[in-house]
Amino acid sequence: MVEPQASVERLERLTGMLRRRGIILPAFEIHGGAKGLYDFGPVGGRLRSKVQSVWRDHWLSQGDVVEISCPTVTPFAVLEASGHVAEFSDFMTVCTACDEASRADTLLEAHHANPDALSLSDLQALLDDVQPPCPACGEASWSPVAAENLMFDTVIGAGSSGRAAFLRPETAQGMFTTYPAIYRHFRERLPFGAMQLGRGYRNEISPRQGMIRLREFNMAELEYFIDPETEAPHDLSPWASTEVQLVPAEGDAFAASIPTALAQGVILHPTVAWFMARTHDLMLALGVDAEKLRFRQHARDEMAHYALDCWDVELHGSYGWIECVGIAHRGCYDLEAHEKATGQRLRAWRNYPEPKVVEINGWTIDGAKAGPAFRALAGQVKSKVEALGPEASFPLTVVLDGGEEVLVEEEHVKRVQRTETVAGEWFIPHVVEPAFGIDRIIWHLLDHAYEESGSGEEMYVRMRLHPDVAPVDAAVLPLFEKEGMDTMASEVHRRLCGTRGVLASYDGSGSIGRRYARADEIGVPCCLTVDHTSLEDGTVTWRDRDTGEQTRMSVDDAVRRLAAP
Ligand code: GLY
Repeated sequence: MVEPQASVERLERLTGMLRRRGIILPAFEIHGGAKGLYDFGPVGGRLRSKVQSVWRDHWLSQGDVVEISCPTVTPFAVLEASGHVAEFSDFMTVCTACDEASRADTLLEAHHANPDALSLSDLQALLDDVQPPCPACGEASWSPVAAENLMFDTVIGAGSSGRAAFLRPETAQGMFTTYPAIYRHFRERLPFGAMQLGRGYRNEISPRQGMIRLREFNMAELEYFIDPETEAPHDLSPWASTEVQLVPAEGDAFAASIPTALAQGVILHPTVAWFMARTHDLMLALGVDAEKLRFRQHARDEMAHYALDCWDVELHGSYGWIECVGIAHRGCYDLEAHEKATGQRLRAWRNYPEPKVVEINGWTIDGAKAGPAFRALAGQVKSKVEALGPEASFPLTVVLDGGEEVLVEEEHVKRVQRTETVAGEWFIPHVVEPAFGIDRIIWHLLDHAYEESGSGEEMYVRMRLHPDVAPVDAAVLPLFEKEGMDTMASEVHRRLCGTRGVLASYDGSGSIGRRYARADEIGVPCCLTVDHTSLEDGTVTWRDRDTGEQTRMSVDDAVRRLAAP
């Protein structure tokens, strides 16, 4: 996309300010930096943690969600089972003139509506046809397109006993591998959710858009486990009159409420609709501009390997519309995959409306013989043998889900023939997942809040961040650093910093106007000024960032206003 020059210049001023003020800055800069790695600096660190707190409180308030925390280093077997080893790739091509690697779909964005959804051969054909210039050197000579897995690999342990592993590409797998503990925690009753905030890692081929495409990033994901047969839909009536912008996979974009889009069959699943509605509220609570938010449904061939339906929340900013949240219906894909790979039961129990009498006429294994013979595979062999009909005969070669063949002898099995009353059944829960790119969201909060007025030397910047995410809650300013105003301002500053949930800064250098400007630039919602009157009556003036209005109040009242409720 070609941005108008004014937007490019605004973007440069914004990123320059974020860097200069210690909000977001390239990591490891003294060593030359590394693409796709950023620091949240002395001001940005708290912005990030406040966004994470708002996110955490929003989902915990649902009452049926717990927070967990899993390692980022993940054994190979976990990500092989999840499909990431085979599927988690982008298509890469390398410039034969300068050796710079690029994503083939990114090179072709101006020539196709959705190149991300193209197959390798279609991308190759389009690349051959268009011959786009290399973004690094301008030549147009490309190596054949190839799939490149995006995971960072590593080893757990040293020497020959080291086990292959990856840095996790998503936090989600931790929620699936911990499922038995979460199921027990919730007294074995669906629905429930587990979430975690943490780092994810993707060795992006060519990260070129600042905070948008990072190689190590902050994620926040929630996996909500449901029974697909007895799922009780959530109440969407509070969103009946809230219109949102929707871009369906087929047909034109339109505005409608989320319950209406569900009733029309555009949103395919009620729990997906519920998380879209709740995510919409969260985005506005963080300070996203509602006019710059839309939901876009993935086309079938664009969805991740695990997804049945997926809606992105896209936010509009300096880089155009950018995916910041994905709300995916993952079906039973993940639990089933881990169950197959481990032989562990990752299921939930559902009672039938009435108990059923069933006739069992077939085979089971004789544990005393089969256990020692098949060891870790005994559980899988049992499932296979119990699925055979009465006509089966032994010895019999059984193929397990992992592809292993085992020879089951007559001595390993017993014939079973009886009737049983069965109260219910085990099934694999389905999962709906809202997954948030915290860095992208923070970028858009800053982009939406950044307001310039005037021009040139006279340009004034005000960052209208929501107070719940503002990195500093109040700036305490002595009108002059003398006559006791500095002492009183220091006391107010200390008192505020000692108040739970409040962080204040003290700024005594330069004119009061310059100090207001410094506070406004990083989005401090209010400045408390200590002046001559303060020394007489113990008051401060409270200056509001957005209106500039000043109100005199006691220090106690100012502290009360700022204290967390
Ligand atoms: N778990 C969603 C994602 O990896 O983007």
